[in-house]
Amino acid sequence: MSSVEMVRGEEDARTNKVTDTDTNTNASKNSEKEMVILENISKAYNGNKTNRNSSNVNTSRSGSSTVLFEHIVLDNLNLRITEGEFVTIVGPSGCGKSTLLNILAGIDTSYTGKILIDGASIKRSPDTDRIIIFQEGALFPWLTVYENIEFGLKIAKISKEKRREIVMHYIDLVQLTSFAHAFVHQLSGGMKQRVAIARALVLNPKILLMDEPFAALDVQTRRMLYDQLVKIHEKTNKTILFVTHNINEAVALGDRAIIISPKIAGIKKEFKIDLPRPRQLDHPLINSITNAIIEESKEMYTSNSYFTSRYGNYSTESKPDLELESPQSQLA
Ligand SMILES: Nc1ncnc2c1ncn2[C@@H]1O[C@H](COP(=O)(O)OP(=O)(O)OP(=O)(O)O)[C@@H](O)[C@H]1O
Ligand SMILES: [Mg+2]
Repeated sequence: MSSVEMVRGEEDARTNKVTDTDTNTNASKNSEKEMVILENISKAYNGNKTNRNSSNVNTSRSGSSTVLFEHIVLDNLNLRITEGEFVTIVGPSGCGKSTLLNILAGIDTSYTGKILIDGASIKRSPDTDRIIIFQEGALFPWLTVYENIEFGLKIAKISKEKRREIVMHYIDLVQLTSFAHAFVHQLSGGMKQRVAIARALVLNPKILLMDEPFAALDVQTRRMLYDQLVKIHEKTNKTILFVTHNINEAVALGDRAIIISPKIAGIKKEFKIDLPRPRQLDHPLINSITNAIIEESKEMYTSNSYFTSRYGNYSTESKPDLELESPQSQLA
């Protein structure tokens, strides 16, 4: 047993957590154990919409009126993810991808439905068993790379010696050993995201939630990070739920790619990507699944969005972000 394995084992016994999957990658690689179960997840926001020439009260001088409505973002969504599975989520802007991740992360608590992680109902609050990584890593700028990664372990009151061993293991995994004592402002965007990944992994989450983690990076850096994330996934066998706007990225990375549709406020279709890794982005199967998803998604990216057709024009301060993208540009 390596020292890190031993360290994690001891800590797990103390903190009552599952053992680190670094040590049993092969054993659980083909496990069909369900790590995440989402049952009938529904989420709605209240909003105002402007109706022209309505007979409603609150009619303004221009003849328009404001009525309250319920914007259903997720409507009885069901999803099951097995241990070690890498699931990617795509869908047009505003379809509810971040909402779903925030619900799982315990950041968004106003939803109905049931979520089980490793067989237990989750608390409606953030927890180290499910950690979310955003587009911007949200690192602490006053701490070094080492200290950022160590932070959660300190909070968990892990001893200094053991913290060091765990942190060094994960810094090595994300290939930042020589930057251990650099500050955040001295890192590139890709390096920052690798720190964010290491910082999440040291806490041994049962699921890693990634909300467009590479969206702010240039194409070259993104491709390098694909390779690194694939290696990290292979070594840790973490269950990953990964949101992206880039369909090609979703297919190249995932064991399964899921399309969320704002029309049905849920999963429209999913594609199993049964291809060994590492994968070439332009592999014929990747291309054909990417094209199939683009085809499937076309109607969702038309200029007249489902949101507008269903709900009219939003007129609250929390204006929905309905920026539209061309699915064709996804192949870039
Ligand atoms: N606080 C809020 N109040 C009202 N509506 C909201 C609020 N937060 C999100 N929404 C709406 O919920 C819907 C889903 O938002 P969400 O952020 O989950 O979309 P998304 O799929 O992640 O989009 P993007 O790809 O742009 O990140 C959107 O229509 C958005 O306007
Ligand atoms: Mg989002």
